[in-house]
Amino acid sequence: MKVRKAVIPAAGLGTRFLPATKALPKEMLPIVDKPTIQFIVEEAKKSGIEDILIVIGKNKRPIEDHFDSNPELEQDLKEKGKNDLLKLTQSITHLGVNLYYTRQPHPAGLGDAIFRARSFVGDEPFVVMLGDDLMDDKVPLTKQLIERYNKTHASTIAVMQVPHKEVSKYGVIEPENEIMPGLINVKSFVEKPDIDKAPSDYAIIGRYLLTPEIFDILAHQKPGRGGEIQLTDAIDTMNKTQRVFAHVFKGERHDVGNKEGYLETSIEYGLKHPEIKEQLRAYIQRLDKKFEAEDKAKK
Ligand code: G1P
Repeated sequence: MKVRKAVIPAAGLGTRFLPATKALPKEMLPIVDKPTIQFIVEEAKKSGIEDILIVIGKNKRPIEDHFDSNPELEQDLKEKGKNDLLKLTQSITHLGVNLYYTRQPHPAGLGDAIFRARSFVGDEPFVVMLGDDLMDDKVPLTKQLIERYNKTHASTIAVMQVPHKEVSKYGVIEPENEIMPGLINVKSFVEKPDIDKAPSDYAIIGRYLLTPEIFDILAHQKPGRGGEIQLTDAIDTMNKTQRVFAHVFKGERHDVGNKEGYLETSIEYGLKHPEIKEQLRAYIQRLDKKFEAEDKAKK
């Protein structure tokens, strides 16, 4: 069956970015000039996804507004002859995918957010795309997962090796064997293990291809780490009755879910942005010289 649907959980409170996220959804924080959630929707589109359900919560209206039309702004841009900006604004409403929204009433964990997608997904395989990770590769990571699924018809979770000291921030796999290059047979999935108990350094990154049986498991899933319903726990249960593989991502991953990663990604994307790349590069060089001079003065 063709993979056509994606679920993007966007109900989190964004506490890592307070005070910025007190009234603004963290998914609307821009990388240079584009909200992070737009990168995710664009990756879905490039991967052949047709329908996307965004699971939102309170204070998330700006996400819906962003993908909607803005007649007043568009009229103003038209009257002022700002055609490029008009095109840019309108292109967001015509991305070529259908967007749907549902609310998660209480932040009860990723597993609970995904469970809200049950009737949207129905009886089809689907992808889950987390907004904290921006992925760069020639073929979008979501498409890589779909291509794996088309061959194996099995759920497949994207993973990447991370420094050992960071494993406790992630869901981690216990690998069994590599069944073909970059595709791992998994023994178990563990959500945020303690560093000394982690079964490997392969971390679950924010893209999952799941078969719909996950919903039957999520329906009975007990709270796990942090007292929340964990998607990783449900995947581990599913792996006992049907194969769940791990696909090793070889591209570049940008974690925009924390301040440091967010700023690094902003700088990196800024250095590629046609409008500002020259000035930004010159500025970073000036800054580097300034730091060097300051360091010398200290010695
Ligand atoms: C979630 C998942 C975790 C995964 C991570 C990837 O955690 O629960 O298994 O490794 O996303 O970014 P969160 O970062 O939302 O705490």
